[in-house]
Amino acid sequence: MLEIRNVTRRFGENIAVNAVSLSIPQGQMVGIIGRSGAGKSTLLRMINRLADTSEGGIHFGDRAVSSLRGARLRSWQRDCAMIFQQFNLVPRLDVLTNVMLGRLNHRSQILSLLSIFSDEERMMAMAALERLGIEKTALQPAGTLSGGQQQRVAIARALMQQPRMLLADEPIASLDPLNAKIVMDALKDINQRDGITVITNLHTLDTARTYCERIIGMSKGSVVFDGPPVDLTLDAVREIYGGESNDIDESMTSTSINIPANKLASGATPSVEPQLVAPAGA
Ligand SMILES: Nc1ncnc2c1ncn2[C@@H]1O[C@H](COP(=O)(O)OP(=O)(O)OP(=O)(O)O)[C@@H](O)[C@H]1O
Ligand SMILES: [Mg+2]
Repeated sequence: MLEIRNVTRRFGENIAVNAVSLSIPQGQMVGIIGRSGAGKSTLLRMINRLADTSEGGIHFGDRAVSSLRGARLRSWQRDCAMIFQQFNLVPRLDVLTNVMLGRLNHRSQILSLLSIFSDEERMMAMAALERLGIEKTALQPAGTLSGGQQQRVAIARALMQQPRMLLADEPIASLDPLNAKIVMDALKDINQRDGITVITNLHTLDTARTYCERIIGMSKGSVVFDGPPVDLTLDAVREIYGGESNDIDESMTSTSINIPANKLASGATPSVEPQLVAPAGA
């Protein structure tokens, strides 16, 4: 169980995350949605300790995540692997080596420096690539792969950490619809078959509805919705995205909702078709 207790993060005067409390049981698939600047990335980064909390605490079992140091902090960061919108691979290194880099935290510094990997690690990396359906790319430089393939390499690298939790910050925001689906299917499979908690920030409301059993809506640093997709009514969507008119348009959700909101009864769940849309300019 991951416990976020009354966590606040300030940047100067700006409150990025405001007194957020959440309990996330092991094995849940959680989507975090909200407007740009709502605090989604900051929240994920505090869980992984890429950012520090200003107030409050994050706990996982008996570990006080927010005060870990040194080896214990590295062990925690191994337990919660992170995936980013821009993949963060080493483009000139081959795919297999990129995946094996996920083992770095498990090994001695000298072996890491020399990039010497054992046969066992190679086999493990190949198995991860096979699981994601990209084993044929193993010897290609990572930079030559398509975006969707690169994100799958990043997921394979994360799996090499043998994490308890996968944190994904807009993992499909740079992908076309087909690749977005492949990547979300892979995350769902890892969640369901391995029991790994997945917490993912998503731009697209409909993706969150389709894949996540629990949706957390953030607005101006606060959690304003927390529940299953079925509870995410039009009113709840308005509160998250700050809509005041009857129409929820692309500018509010970064996705297209093709059923005009005024055709839905107020308070009803909008029946939105799953639609994976890359943001403009991607
Ligand atoms: N390193 C930083 N220094 C200063 N301000 C920051 C920093 N990181 C985030 N912020 C501010 O904190 C607020 C929340 O930002 P955050 O990146 O968490 O939002 P987000 O919900 O992930 O947005 P997006 O959908 O655009 O990714 C914003 O006002 C942002 O400008
Ligand atoms: Mg963000």
